[in-house]
Amino acid sequence: MVKVLVVGYGTIGQRLADGVALQKDMELVGVADAAVSLGLRALREKGMPYRLYAANGQAAESLRAGGMEVSGLLEEVLPTVDIVLDATSAGVGAQNKKLYEKYGVKAIFQGGEKNDVADVFFHGYANYEKGVGADYLKLTSCNTTGLIRAVDCLDKKAGVEKVAITIVRRVADPGDYHRGLVNALQVDQAPTHQAVDLMTIMPHIDATGILVHTPVTHGHFITVVATPKTDISAEDVIAAFKEHDRIRVVRLEDGFLGNASLFKYARDLGRPRGDMYEIAVWENTVVKSGKDIMFGIHIPQESVTIPETIDGIRAALSMDTDGGEAVKKTNEYLGLGTWK
Ligand SMILES: NC(=O)c1ccc[n+]([C@@H]2O[C@H](COP(=O)([O-])OP(=O)(O)OC[C@H]3O[C@@H](n4cnc5c(N)ncnc54)[C@H](O)[C@@H]3O)[C@@H](O)[C@H]2O)c1
Repeated sequence: MVKVLVVGYGTIGQRLADGVALQKDMELVGVADAAVSLGLRALREKGMPYRLYAANGQAAESLRAGGMEVSGLLEEVLPTVDIVLDATSAGVGAQNKKLYEKYGVKAIFQGGEKNDVADVFFHGYANYEKGVGADYLKLTSCNTTGLIRAVDCLDKKAGVEKVAITIVRRVADPGDYHRGLVNALQVDQAPTHQAVDLMTIMPHIDATGILVHTPVTHGHFITVVATPKTDISAEDVIAAFKEHDRIRVVRLEDGFLGNASLFKYARDLGRPRGDMYEIAVWENTVVKSGKDIMFGIHIPQESVTIPETIDGIRAALSMDTDGGEAVKKTNEYLGLGTWK
């Protein structure tokens, strides 16, 4: 059993902890944080299913003052773990890396860190082999993770020369107040980083795109126009997406009208917090323009990076040297693809 510690028990960290706890070949040693939050209060109310470690002495004091049971300090638990999943607020991971280096512990960082925090910018399907044995991985952001899943699926089926994307980006996570109550679209400088990141991981594809922030919390929406190397029909594209264990193909006529339908459906399925590890592609959006293929993807931003992060554990600890085998195990333990 490899020993995994989650540092930063926020939106992503809570979900990483739950995902690791489900892996039969991994042990979740605990979670570490610096301040009491609603997530930690809920953990306490659930009877502390995960041990809590404090980021440092000061954090231990404030966590204990807030009524939290603290099992020790981050520096005390680090020597006992094989790998850290760092899901702290963007930029904190780079600071924490000094500690991970001090104790010789491997780590996987999330999308908010700069790329140079890690040896490999990682995606479980598109470049798993590059992560094998690596000490520091950085996961792609939520949009990039989902986007690459879909583009890699097409790339493996037909080869992809070029993609152009539009991202309608949710402006905050559910429960966030710090971004204000907004009713406006905000346009970003192009090309959007997700297209640039895709080219870093899949350098054989030319990518560009535009991003617009929108006042929505349940998911981002990406439209993709992909130029395949060999002609592929819309039906074959849909069939390829249907075969993929992390892509759910949905239809308007079945009631999946948009982001809110998917969130409701995940809750109806009894998924914790309405989480979805999979991205969704609407069958109704798959169209052709000449040779080009266009389609629309739903990105559940809070949970989409969890499977690829777990793939990262398998790669960094050389648990599997074959990416196909690795993603299969992660998918099995997370119950992915069961809807097919
Ligand atoms: N929220 C999303 O939709 C989303 C999606 C994909 C990737 N990401 C990335 O995941 C990372 C985490 O984002 P988030 O949304 O979960 O943030 P968050 O603010 O919800 O959680 C961050 C947590 O880290 C804790 N923390 C801060 N400093 C710490 C320290 N020194 N030691 C231990 N814990 C510390 C905070 O108390 C908080 O609980 C970022 O890199 C972000 O860019 C976020």
